[in-house]
Amino acid sequence: MTTATGPKPLPPVPSFRMDGKVAMVTGASSGIGEGAAVALAAAGAHVVCLARRKDTLEETVTALKAAGGSAEALAVDMADLDALEAALQGRVFDVVVNSAGTARLGPAETMSAADFDAVIGLNLRAAFFLSTLCARALMAAGRPGSIVHVSSQMGHVGGVDRAVYCASKWGLEGMIRAMALDWGAKGIRVNAVAPTFVRTPLTEPTFRDPAKRAWIDANIRLDRVAEVGDVAAAILYLASDAATMVTGTSLLVDGGWTAG
Ligand SMILES: NC(=O)c1ccc[n+]([C@@H]2O[C@H](COP(=O)([O-])OP(=O)(O)OC[C@H]3O[C@@H](n4cnc5c(N)ncnc54)[C@H](OP(=O)(O)O)[C@@H]3O)[C@@H](O)[C@H]2O)c1
Repeated sequence: MTTATGPKPLPPVPSFRMDGKVAMVTGASSGIGEGAAVALAAAGAHVVCLARRKDTLEETVTALKAAGGSAEALAVDMADLDALEAALQGRVFDVVVNSAGTARLGPAETMSAADFDAVIGLNLRAAFFLSTLCARALMAAGRPGSIVHVSSQMGHVGGVDRAVYCASKWGLEGMIRAMALDWGAKGIRVNAVAPTFVRTPLTEPTFRDPAKRAWIDANIRLDRVAEVGDVAAAILYLASDAATMVTGTSLLVDGGWTAG
């Protein structure tokens, strides 16, 4: 149908492009973080890739550049908050994707204080202060931003042998909601993606155990485990301006694990 002046105006087309934006991805040298770095770079962002090991990080950055992207490496242990703060000094990121994470698996009664501190120290404590450091920089610059934490389906349900891991991810889920309330008026969005199992170095021991593999296959309703790209797609959406009305939520990419 046309009007007297031409076709009727249509709603704007949502854009997932990230041209001109600077994104930081923690855990960018492996697994889901590397997938997020690929997606953000392909969408046009300059991607700052953070992890501890410089050599593997440089391999990712070299590959991203070879694929036509813009990227740089930032080697830092983000569980060391002083080192993290020093590394981020003077930087302002339009997008922050936090995928660095760890797990200690076993029955709850076998978990030591060291296990607890290692998991909570990276998955929750470092995630908290990474968020506040980046949000403060955005506020000082008067700019909006999007922070996306990689949570887990284990932030929505319990998992056998995963008491500490679940505690860290449920904590993260509460954190993103509260930060969304604190920072919404400043245009800083805080969200999470909550994946099911993806085969990465982190989950390799679980995948290699036939009983655990059967448990995974029985609980994912779709007929496969998740791929890094499935999670990266959700991250790209939440990071992009297509999601400027989305904050304080967790996007499950779980193949139906938590649906029933
Ligand atoms: N894979 C899954 O099935 C799955 C499912 C749900 C949720 N998740 C979550 O997804 C996130 C990524 O997991 P993944 O499977 O992709 O793991 P991964 O392949 O083991 O990658 C972890 C990344 O984090 C970096 N990293 C680890 N500790 C760090 C630290 N202290 N400081 C800075 N960087 C650090 C690692 O590099 P360096 O070792 O060089 O530092 C690596 O780049 C985690 O939060 C995990 O809980 C994973």
